[in-house]
Amino acid sequence: MHYLFNPLPHSGINNIIKAKDEFYYTSDGKKYIDLESGIWCASIGHNHNNINKIIHDQLNSLSHISKRVLPSNIDRIARKLLNLTEIQGKVMFLNTGSEAIEFSMILSKLVHKNGKIISFEDNYVSAYGQATQIDEKINIRPCLKCEQKECTKDCKVLKNKIDKNAIFIFDPFCFSRLVLIPPQKLIKRIEEEIKLNNGILIVDEITTGMGRTGKWFGYDHFEIKPDMIVLGKSLGNGYPVSAVIINEFIIKKVERTKFGYYQSHQNDPMGCKIAEGVIEEIQENKLIDVSRELGASFLSKLKEELFNIDCVEDIRGIGLLIGIQISRDITVEEIYNKLLEKRIIIGISFKYNVLNVFPPYTINPVLIPKIAESIKTVIFEIEQDKKRINKLSN
Ligand SMILES: Cc1ncc(COP(=O)(O)O)c(C=O)c1O
Repeated sequence: MHYLFNPLPHSGINNIIKAKDEFYYTSDGKKYIDLESGIWCASIGHNHNNINKIIHDQLNSLSHISKRVLPSNIDRIARKLLNLTEIQGKVMFLNTGSEAIEFSMILSKLVHKNGKIISFEDNYVSAYGQATQIDEKINIRPCLKCEQKECTKDCKVLKNKIDKNAIFIFDPFCFSRLVLIPPQKLIKRIEEEIKLNNGILIVDEITTGMGRTGKWFGYDHFEIKPDMIVLGKSLGNGYPVSAVIINEFIIKKVERTKFGYYQSHQNDPMGCKIAEGVIEEIQENKLIDVSRELGASFLSKLKEELFNIDCVEDIRGIGLLIGIQISRDITVEEIYNKLLEKRIIIGISFKYNVLNVFPPYTINPVLIPKIAESIKTVIFEIEQDKKRINKLSN
């Protein structure tokens, strides 16, 4: 590529011409399994017939609109999204996840001008804006092994972290591809502290929402009630639509400030109709159950295949959000490249040396044992090669 600016490490494949379900197709006739759902967006499968039809019909009727006039069906779609949660309030539709996170921050700061923004260490929340300037980070690593029955605010993880009017934003499980599973007692404790301090609890469900973890939303695993929920990625199945679900309390506070907000594609009919279509597809095909069940069987298959490979340190997952921690003896890039030769595209985190398996919920279950076996073969061969080379050089 000579003219395209794409500043990130690249696989070298630049001839994809089509995607369908869990596959990519290249111009020279190759077919790759996509274990990342694009970038965790095409969760009900690439190039989905019913979503395509919605896009087609909407293009032929109304794809974009002035914000002073609204489409006839938009309130119904907002209600449909709200009904998936226990929140009574309103919804704003935007485009990207980062934009929606930023909007949730703008609202929070209208309510609590000097509220400290808190998040978890390793959480990725936004590409830009206020959310990238977190005032306080909570490191939950010690909590992953904690055996205390209850979390207390005096524990060093939480001590002096949450103060009055705090704005707490967290991604429940993705942790920048690390895939961590925080204990319920920690999240419940944080919720309690935020409420006691009159703060705002925002859940970033951009990666974990819309069924990825085997429930509609990641926060559902903790039985908490956030003040705002931010959605993106899977909400549009690859089309850029995001949403902020905002509770009544915040809406009322913000309305009193005479706040105005206007951008070109806010509440655009195309994105809203696609989001509605995705919700209906998930409901009609019981894809939440599918994600939970396939996720459990993928995880156990990976554990079964990889359990005696030295460089595999840990395999963690919830629903179809799975991370495989690789020791620093080999790099995930080496694994990625070898899997490419087997026509499998796996997710990787260079920073944490983690492999990611986030396939569409509609992946053919027959592929799962084959993929797990291919991952094992590749890691095993790289590990054996390394051992041989080390032996020779000693
Ligand atoms: C947890 C989380 N929050 C927010 C974002 C930002 O979303 P977007 O890339 O659509 O702006 C991402 C993107 O990967 C994410 O993983």
